[in-house]
Amino acid sequence: MKHPMIIQGGMGAGVSNWHLAKEVSKNGFLGVVSCTAQDNILVRRLQEGDPGGDVRRAMAAFPDQSFVHEALKKYFVEDGIGDCRYKQIPMFILNAPNELKKLNILASYVEVFLAKEGHSGVVGINVLEKIQMPNIYLIYGAMLAGVDYVIVGAGIPREIPGVIEKLANKEKSSLHINVEGAGKEDDYKMELDPSEFFQLSEIKTAKPYFLAIVSSNTLAMTLAKKALGRVDGFIVEYPSAGGHNAPPRQRGAFNEAGEPIYGNKDLVDLKKIKALGFPFWLAGSYGNPEKLKEALDNGAEGIQTGTAFAFCQESGFTEDLKRKAIELSKKLTGNVFTDPKASPTGFPFKVLDIKGTLSEFSEYIKRPRSCNLGYLRQLFKKENGTVGYRCPAEPVDAFVAKGGHEEKTEKCKCLCNALIANIGMPTKYESGYIEKPLVTVGDCFNKISEFLKSQDNQSYFAADVLDYLLAYSK
Ligand SMILES: Cc1cc2nc3c(=O)[nH]c(=O)nc-3n(C[C@H](O)[C@H](O)[C@H](O)COP(=O)(O)O)c2cc1C
Repeated sequence: MKHPMIIQGGMGAGVSNWHLAKEVSKNGFLGVVSCTAQDNILVRRLQEGDPGGDVRRAMAAFPDQSFVHEALKKYFVEDGIGDCRYKQIPMFILNAPNELKKLNILASYVEVFLAKEGHSGVVGINVLEKIQMPNIYLIYGAMLAGVDYVIVGAGIPREIPGVIEKLANKEKSSLHINVEGAGKEDDYKMELDPSEFFQLSEIKTAKPYFLAIVSSNTLAMTLAKKALGRVDGFIVEYPSAGGHNAPPRQRGAFNEAGEPIYGNKDLVDLKKIKALGFPFWLAGSYGNPEKLKEALDNGAEGIQTGTAFAFCQESGFTEDLKRKAIELSKKLTGNVFTDPKASPTGFPFKVLDIKGTLSEFSEYIKRPRSCNLGYLRQLFKKENGTVGYRCPAEPVDAFVAKGGHEEKTEKCKCLCNALIANIGMPTKYESGYIEKPLVTVGDCFNKISEFLKSQDNQSYFAADVLDYLLAYSK
């Protein structure tokens, strides 16, 4: 099997949607759909009336039509709800209702089905190890739709390859869930038994490739040796990449702007990566022809880039954010800040300064804190032995009452709501407050205007990015 040379990075939530992945995939490369918050994205699209009918066309092919009818009955609004007062779905908990599990299976199925429809290119999904509870369901839904690659970042996804193997064989599978304060006697997990949800004779699942996103030799080596199942390759991601970055080895050192400082210990030795004998790709400011050539010269299969594709016509960002970002890049005035506090995960998160978004302190303090999507909630064991859920971006009192440290709440932002606002689906509250976006990009952001055919243009397409990347080989 020859793996694709260019991977369009998974960008959550909904930035790398099926439109983008399909375009990249049709052109012979790996188009990746993000599955982060895909359950909410699905039900919000239905509440917007699913203009064009794509979502409902994909749902019509789902193997369990009784669930499709239930979901349509509950969420589909013929002419759209007209504002952003979306119906909420339950937040994930260990003992999640079957309805939520099925919704996640359906949501990733729909996205992959649409990305793969009408051509023979390969499609991947991206999920985060940090958002553990929905993953087994999202992966399964994607597999039912024939996903070719499962790509997992933000953690040590040791169990995922084994889960994929079991699910491909239609076997019951489970994924351990991290709970802070858990003891040896505890065994928290999410389970999926395909026979509980589907007639096994009516479903087909093939085993996709599994790629892990790593930022150190140690992590690559651990996964190569100790993963429960087959790892098919690594995406080595450097700290200049958009989205979350792995924290530096040496904690507590910041530059004048307040960004974490990465040092020699954070360097990845590519010779050692190569010596592991797995295919690998390089990511983090690799979205240009020279870096692509450099990656290939270093023995990589190719590159993964997100920032390059993030603002193209097919991506999920709103038109307003794309226009503002492209303007900034044309003037080379885009400021990218590696924010050590913004993300509830505690990982550094890259933020592009854009007016009217949460990158502005004035917008950040205006936001009434609330936690209603809950993807980044951390699980902890309470004194009474039950499991609690908390997020440093929730109301401070609530977080502290659950045993959270107050200092963690400082400058912490609700990424769940901001990221879904980025794609034009902001939550609107009774008070009238509408959630604001927060845009993440990589350090190479100011180069995106190079994808414009001329500087008079205001937009570019995924195919323009691919043309540009392949320039070295022409
Ligand atoms: C807008 C945006 C959102 C991203 N979201 C995710 C994500 O949800 N999961 C993930 O593993 N990586 C995410 N990334 C990282 C990309 O998948 C990719 O690895 C990265 O963009 C490569 O570096 P580059 O930004 O310099 O091209 C995101 C990147 C961007 C720009």
